[in-house]
Amino acid sequence: MTDSHPALTQCLQQHLRHARADSQCLPQVPDLRLYLLNADYPQQQLSAEEIEAVMHYPAYWAFCWASGQVLAEFLLGNPQWVQGKRVLDFGSGSGVAGIAAAKAGAARVIACDIDPDAQIATAANAALNGVTVEVRGDYDEVDEPIDIILVADVLYDRSNFPWLARFLARAPQVLVADSRVKDFEFPGYRFLKQRQSCTLPDLDESAEFREVRLYLGE
Ligand SMILES: C[S@@+](CC[C@H](N)C(=O)[O-])C[C@H]1O[C@@H](n2cnc3c(N)ncnc32)[C@H](O)[C@@H]1O
Repeated sequence: MTDSHPALTQCLQQHLRHARADSQCLPQVPDLRLYLLNADYPQQQLSAEEIEAVMHYPAYWAFCWASGQVLAEFLLGNPQWVQGKRVLDFGSGSGVAGIAAAKAGAARVIACDIDPDAQIATAANAALNGVTVEVRGDYDEVDEPIDIILVADVLYDRSNFPWLARFLARAPQVLVADSRVKDFEFPGYRFLKQRQSCTLPDLDESAEFREVRLYLGE
């Protein structure tokens, strides 16, 4: 059954008249549901104004990115990575990675995202899945000790690369899920595994962005 989240739908409709934030099941992580852009959204019929608005307001939180879905699947299949730990989901978007960590038995999960609408989405999605995730806007507001940082699809912007060194200075372990960086070589990080996925709803991105690689920093 599909139901829509009124406040998140309102956020979307400021820019996309026909959009809804519908509760959807994740194909690779059937234990999780998220409020995401309605799958039947008529993407081909966007007006020039709507395209312009989307460029200026990319509602990342209204999608579950391929990397987020793979990281969530990995954590639920391998809960020892987060069980009993204090977890930070950086660039949480919908909150998919942090919510999976909470479901996998994390002691505490904090999610941070600079987009205020993503903070609303993360809180709504945590409630939808019956878990507790604390939401923050700014990374520097997180002053609690953290055991592991989750980073899913945040390296689409090269200006975010320096965060990888900051994370290692902040926590003993960092799990990065990424499909954007071709030659991922950062000191302290090593390749763990690769898995295919796609963004939900499907943005029909090219094949290379469906190959998600997981890296461990420690
Ligand atoms: C492509 S989305 C990925 C969302 C989610 N992790 C997933 O995999 O579905 C990237 C998110 O990172 C957030 N972000 C980008 N730079 C950030 C920063 N410096 N601090 C916190 N969040 C950031 C964006 O607002 C966006 O919600």
